[in-house]
Amino acid sequence: MVMQMTMRLVRLWLWCAVVVVAVLCLGGCKEDGSAQAGDGALVMATDAAFFPYEYVEDGEVVGLDVDMAREMGRRMGVAVRVENMEFDSVIAAVQAGKVDFAASGITVSADREKQVNFTRPYAVAQQVVLVSVGSALQRPQDLQGVRVGVQSGTTGDLYVKEHFGEPERYSNGPMAVAALKAGKVDAVVLDDLPAKEHAARNPGLQVLAEPLTREAYAVAVGKDKPELLARMNEALAAMEQDGTLARLAADYAQRELPQEGQGMWGAFYHNFVKDGRWRYLADGLVVTVEISAAAALIGIVLGALIGVVRSTAEQTGRLRCLDFFCRLYLTVVRGTPVVVQLLIIYFVIFGSVEVSKVLVAIVAFGLNSAAYVAEIVRSGIMAVDRGQMEAGRSLGLGYGYTMRAVVMPQAFKNVLPALGNEFIVLLKETSICGYIALQDLTKGGNIILSQTYDAFLPLMAVALIYLLMVVGLSALLRKLERRLKKNER
Ligand code: ARG
Repeated sequence: MVMQMTMRLVRLWLWCAVVVVAVLCLGGCKEDGSAQAGDGALVMATDAAFFPYEYVEDGEVVGLDVDMAREMGRRMGVAVRVENMEFDSVIAAVQAGKVDFAASGITVSADREKQVNFTRPYAVAQQVVLVSVGSALQRPQDLQGVRVGVQSGTTGDLYVKEHFGEPERYSNGPMAVAALKAGKVDAVVLDDLPAKEHAARNPGLQVLAEPLTREAYAVAVGKDKPELLARMNEALAAMEQDGTLARLAADYAQRELPQEGQGMWGAFYHNFVKDGRWRYLADGLVVTVEISAAAALIGIVLGALIGVVRSTAEQTGRLRCLDFFCRLYLTVVRGTPVVVQLLIIYFVIFGSVEVSKVLVAIVAFGLNSAAYVAEIVRSGIMAVDRGQMEAGRSLGLGYGYTMRAVVMPQAFKNVLPALGNEFIVLLKETSICGYIALQDLTKGGNIILSQTYDAFLPLMAVALIYLLMVVGLSALLRKLERRLKKNER
């Protein structure tokens, strides 16, 4: 009997696994997002909030790095497709083979050279200090002991940490600058050209004359792609010789980001209407809903299974072996942050497999949510009076059938509020998708922020949309609860 039940459950799990893998393969075939796209194009990673090297204009990633990479590709006879992600992930993406190369104003450093290969340098840069006009901070050494903002994972981050102590880390430069404007930090350390642009746009900010470092930018290529590196070097050398690189630099030196609108309506227009920026929020919303809904589905199915196994083991002493694995699963999943799980699934488990990022997120959040749902379901089952099971059994119903037809419906009703809570958490938790370069709602807001250099409106809009979704979800759950209660009578 126990044996049979165990076999049946194992079979069910295996089927679930087969379905998940099949879906993954199907999804993986069409979605882009990994190195050497099906069309033979090279995939380039960048963090497009770094004027003039990479930034977004009319919904497209453009800039010096992009033009340079495209020209390099043209000379090599391949197209280049750009993937926009957090700077934190750019080098990891190259190393994991998620992209073919990265051009993102990346400074050549000994540490990075251990992880990736660099081409010959194509530009020089400096880390500089951005402060408010009239600030007491006038020389680099004044940064000792004050709050310094940086973009996480950059050479500015490393320099400040080494010389002045832990910096305040932001996910991109414009956010660090927004913090400076809001008085959250006293200075920002970043690369010279983006710094100049920030100072030009904000009359209240200035760049200190004395730079902190001198650096060189190069393109990062995977260690396992020496031929690509050689071909890129050849193209770069030719572009330097015939003046293409100098021409590109001169061309971008004259450009500037459009100034922001004045007044309330001007700011609204600038943040949401201009260049169709509202689309970042709309598209992001679709991704957020897609991921949350699918993950909730996985969570509830897998979670219910685990919950049943756990409570069966607890109440009857059977399924000990399965129960052990379920507990192990809960320990691991609940014991580690979901961001870390997401990154592990993306970079390690699916490291070299071409798979859709939306799917990666669905799997990560689904597996994570299942652990919490499992405990909710278990508590629901345990709360159902034991007499219910006994009554069912004494009527001659099997254990599985009584569980499904008698215990589970009651348990479900009891745990509905807790489940609702879990889905609300899940919905908001997906806001970390930006870590794997997914453009969800939160990332959509961040992209607007990094284009308009305004923190207030984009963040408010994002918050409002989440709030509305949660309010809607809560109303739906309340309705369901009421309906279930009515059936009771
Ligand atoms: N040059 C600095 C570094 O390599 C900062 C680069 C930041 N690039 C970017 N696209 N946000 O660490």
